[in-house]
Amino acid sequence: MSGEQVKSIDEAMRMAIEQSYLVKGNTYPNPPVGAVIVDHEGRVVGVGATEPAGGDHAEVVALRRAGGLAAGGIAVVTLEPCNHFGKTPPCVNALVEARVGAVVYAVTDPNGIAGGGAGRLQAAGVQVQSGVLADQAAGGPLREWLYKQRTGLPHVTWKYASSVDGRSAAADGTSQWISSDASRLDLHRRRATADAIVVGTGTVLADDPALTARFADGSLAGRQPLRVVVGMRDLPSEAKVLNDDSRTMLIRTHDPMEVLKAVSDRTDVLLEGGPTLAGAFLRAGLVNRILAYVAPILLGGPVTAVDDVGVPTIARALRWQFDGIDRAGPDLLLSLVPRGD
Ligand SMILES: NC(=O)c1ccc[n+]([C@@H]2O[C@H](COP(=O)([O-])OP(=O)(O)OC[C@H]3O[C@@H](n4cnc5c(N)ncnc54)[C@H](OP(=O)(O)O)[C@@H]3O)[C@@H](O)[C@H]2O)c1
Repeated sequence: MSGEQVKSIDEAMRMAIEQSYLVKGNTYPNPPVGAVIVDHEGRVVGVGATEPAGGDHAEVVALRRAGGLAAGGIAVVTLEPCNHFGKTPPCVNALVEARVGAVVYAVTDPNGIAGGGAGRLQAAGVQVQSGVLADQAAGGPLREWLYKQRTGLPHVTWKYASSVDGRSAAADGTSQWISSDASRLDLHRRRATADAIVVGTGTVLADDPALTARFADGSLAGRQPLRVVVGMRDLPSEAKVLNDDSRTMLIRTHDPMEVLKAVSDRTDVLLEGGPTLAGAFLRAGLVNRILAYVAPILLGGPVTAVDDVGVPTIARALRWQFDGIDRAGPDLLLSLVPRGD
């Protein structure tokens, strides 16, 4: 990527967003940020992304790679550079010291302590532009972190696999595997960047899932999310979810908010429960994204993807909007966010 010529700031920002996706899930409690340094001729001279906690922020990584070539160039960053001493010195200092001519960023830092970077840069004579591809960065790699900053709660993605007629299991309760190998690989990739996977006891007792992130050959991914099982019933000691492949938390409650409080140190939660737990989270208004793997099969019968969501009549339907429609092998992968989000 270094040495590549970019034709526009948008192109450089797309590169920065790509960089940030590479580190998603590995930066907690810092946001996954990407940065690209472009010299005065439009050549990429440094790229970087947030290192794991305690390591450098994206701008500093990219500046290090750019060395002296950063002087007079443009730093393109997905989040406003920080302006405070945390585990590392403020990124604005590094940008000023590297003598970049301009800083362009996508999303303004909502954090009172770390924010204010733009003002500091301008005071030091650096040109600043904000809001470039802001929707892509805020709705993409930064979505979960921004939600956590705003609400103090982890961001919840409800994932389910269903037949095209909206059933999540056959009449006898079997549901493995409704979706295709391609869908399962996609899900495992997402698990590897999530902080926790939440299910109810019903799913563990019916399916005995391991709830780990695995590669196509079945081997475990390097990073495993916390497994969380919600409900009062005891689990058999041989349940796969209790094996040593990752940590597991058992929470004896039926209150979704209690569940989120128990994992409040996390940012990105995948809700993979059955219709009961999914309904409870939706009724509580605690689902922030839906990921539906829809397979071209028909199951009919009583087991729908979600139970009661508290909608007595069509006028009170929970309204969502698609923010992604993709294929996963033979399946459709639908991504939805609340309408107006
Ligand atoms: N296709 C898919 O994507 C998918 C995913 C998961 C599961 N499934 C299928 O779903 C079926 C299992 O469904 P399920 O609804 O039993 O699974 P579930 O929602 O994962 O678990 C239900 C259990 O969660 C506990 N719970 C937590 N909060 C609750 C609340 N607010 N209200 C009531 N109970 C609460 C209860 O456990 P206690 O009774 O122990 O208190 C309840 O029995 C299986 O057939 C499975 O194959 C399909």
